[in-house]
Amino acid sequence: MADPRLCAVTGSFSYTGKYITRRLLADGHRVRTLTGHPNRPNEFGARVEARPLDFERPHELAASLDDVDVLFNTYWIRFERGGQTFAGAVANTRALIAAAERAGVRRLVHVSIANATSAPHLPYYAGKAALEESVKASAMSHAIIRPTVIFGDEDILINNITWILRHFPLFGAPGGGNYRMRPIFVEDMAELAVSLAERDDNVTVDAVGPETLTFGEWLKLLATNVESRTRIVHLPPTLALWASRAIGLVMRDVVLTSDEVKGLMEDLLVTDGPPTGETRLTEWLREHRDQVGKRYASEVARHFD
Ligand SMILES: NC(=O)c1ccc[n+]([C@@H]2O[C@H](COP(=O)([O-])OP(=O)(O)OC[C@H]3O[C@@H](n4cnc5c(N)ncnc54)[C@H](OP(=O)(O)O)[C@@H]3O)[C@@H](O)[C@H]2O)c1
Repeated sequence: MADPRLCAVTGSFSYTGKYITRRLLADGHRVRTLTGHPNRPNEFGARVEARPLDFERPHELAASLDDVDVLFNTYWIRFERGGQTFAGAVANTRALIAAAERAGVRRLVHVSIANATSAPHLPYYAGKAALEESVKASAMSHAIIRPTVIFGDEDILINNITWILRHFPLFGAPGGGNYRMRPIFVEDMAELAVSLAERDDNVTVDAVGPETLTFGEWLKLLATNVESRTRIVHLPPTLALWASRAIGLVMRDVVLTSDEVKGLMEDLLVTDGPPTGETRLTEWLREHRDQVGKRYASEVARHFD
């Protein structure tokens, strides 16, 4: 965006929203974040104003979006827990969209997921598919971004799989491991989001990196990078999910969800178009081998406690 603008970002103190915020500030824009964690330690200090992401107060939400040119929406829940449901997250996002419309926001940059589908056996994906329709029906111009898997320092999934490879003698991979993934680097994802903000046309863009790996290749890559001697065994998906639940019980977290396993095995973490990010997971892992998976990253601690 050529001129400095006021942008709203959900989750500036969390993962993807943090990188979008960094990028916007570097380009000279002002950022207001909507967050459930206004006091979370963050690198931005007074440069980012925090307002509550409180879906129960639609008028306050709209007031927080006053004068905002672009809303970057990253809000979603990874799994249902403690009364939070995918249906509730859909309703919450619709309340946010309505608040943005009421406030006169020009453009919505909305983060969805690659291959969002209304298939009922994939509630995460079905919620995302329903929201894509809500975004398309909104009065704002919009960009829908569809990432596969996002990797970076604060990533949970790749980090925790590597953590298991560092600490356990066996790793139970669901199925044969031949399904593919095409991850995108979080900074490339932020770059894509910011570049889509300045446009006025309605677009849907996959956020995919330059490398496609099978899950089996990816596990070997992670294991090699951290010099893991863990034996990778292939299990029926339900058994692999139960093994991850056992670890989750000990860590008080959800390590892997049923949607994630099914999405992976149904090849939903890959798309065929050109790459929209340029950073290669293989190179990034080589550079970050000393940090990845050193500590367990808990989704529950980050978002539900
Ligand atoms: N991470 C991936 O690999 C991946 C892959 C495909 C698609 N996506 C999509 O990309 C977007 C950003 O993902 P991310 O991993 O970067 O998320 P994130 O930064 O951890 O969270 C994004 C936003 O959602 C809010 N949020 C997350 N879980 C919540 C919960 N249980 N209750 C209330 N608020 C919650 C956060 O609130 P706070 O501000 O309070 O932290 C934050 O505002 C999401 O829409 C996700 O579906 C992510």
